[in-house]
Amino acid sequence: MKFKRVSKMDMDVSALGFGCWGASGQPSWGGHTDADQIKAIETAIDGGINFFDVAPVYGLGYAEEILGKAIQGKREQIYIASKCGLPWDDQKNVRNDVRKDVILKEIDEILKRLGTDYVDLYQVHWPSADGVSIEETMSAMQEVLKSGKARYIGLTNFSVQDAKTAQEYVEIASMQGLYNMIERNPKSYHNIPLQYKVEEEVLPYTQAEGMAFLPYSPLFQGLLSGHFGNDKKFSQGDVRNSNPKLVGDLYQKHYELIHQLKQFAQQIGKPLNQVAINWLIDQKAVTSVIAGVRNADQVIDNLKALEWALKADEIEAINKIVDASGL
Ligand SMILES: NC(=O)c1ccc[n+]([C@@H]2O[C@H](COP(=O)([O-])OP(=O)(O)OC[C@H]3O[C@@H](n4cnc5c(N)ncnc54)[C@H](OP(=O)(O)O)[C@@H]3O)[C@@H](O)[C@H]2O)c1
Repeated sequence: MKFKRVSKMDMDVSALGFGCWGASGQPSWGGHTDADQIKAIETAIDGGINFFDVAPVYGLGYAEEILGKAIQGKREQIYIASKCGLPWDDQKNVRNDVRKDVILKEIDEILKRLGTDYVDLYQVHWPSADGVSIEETMSAMQEVLKSGKARYIGLTNFSVQDAKTAQEYVEIASMQGLYNMIERNPKSYHNIPLQYKVEEEVLPYTQAEGMAFLPYSPLFQGLLSGHFGNDKKFSQGDVRNSNPKLVGDLYQKHYELIHQLKQFAQQIGKPLNQVAINWLIDQKAVTSVIAGVRNADQVIDNLKALEWALKADEIEAINKIVDASGL
């Protein structure tokens, strides 16, 4: 395993991490079972992966329970990053809510589900959608930090400007955003406009500050695995049906680009998923590539990326192909 040093977190984080959204117990990511996910997590730990990203909203607590089960007796071997700010009501309607009382309540529920007494990183999932001040949210995060229930505080989907404001109230140790070989400064995620530009703004900022940067959807929700055909259809309930980039005309454009990238991967004799992971790992500012997986085989397959690295001219060639696509 390769590790990345995060000075703000005093941690050596595995360059390949594990995204736990797939453990949500819902059909969101295709037909796999809890046992598949538990085995995937165990395989990841055995393979040297030490960074796990989860959130209460993934299966409304379910993914945290699965992660908690899989890491029994291994808590000290790994880092857990969870999130706050997307609670749900009795009817299971999720809302954006980053008020102080919500954040303080969520951390206790998270720890119970995970079966631990601390998380390594507690991240605000999305900035407030209804005017809750950054000061209020960060005052809650500060309280969680002081209580020892979280070791570090992070932000996901925040702009650099808002991160700088947040820093005035609490030490921010990480940022997370949509970033992969194709989506460099994406304007939207599932039709949600993004207020940040990863490559232009977030990466230089996190690197200068010694923060972690965690790229989410590093495999473009599976598109960069290279396994999708040109008539890819997702099953009912699969979250990717609501990603406009993966359906209709826009999908065809992305598919053409993937076809070219696959040809390039073939030329260098490597599978596209490994190329996509290594393209991220190569970047100094990128910390742990929190790839989502469905089963242990995908973990094993992705771990093979750690056995080699892209050369500078290969990265340049990839960037040229992506730039020429206009996507
Ligand atoms: N902060 C946020 O707002 C936010 C948003 C999204 C995600 N995240 C985090 O980022 C993590 C990862 O992102 P993501 O789940 O959106 O997408 P992703 O990691 O880009 O893609 C995951 C999908 O890639 C496919 N895959 C992975 N390895 C493969 C392999 N070796 N061979 C073939 N296919 C492979 C699987 O697709 P199939 O199911 O088709 O096999 C898997 O479900 C999440 O789990 C979550 O922790 C955070």
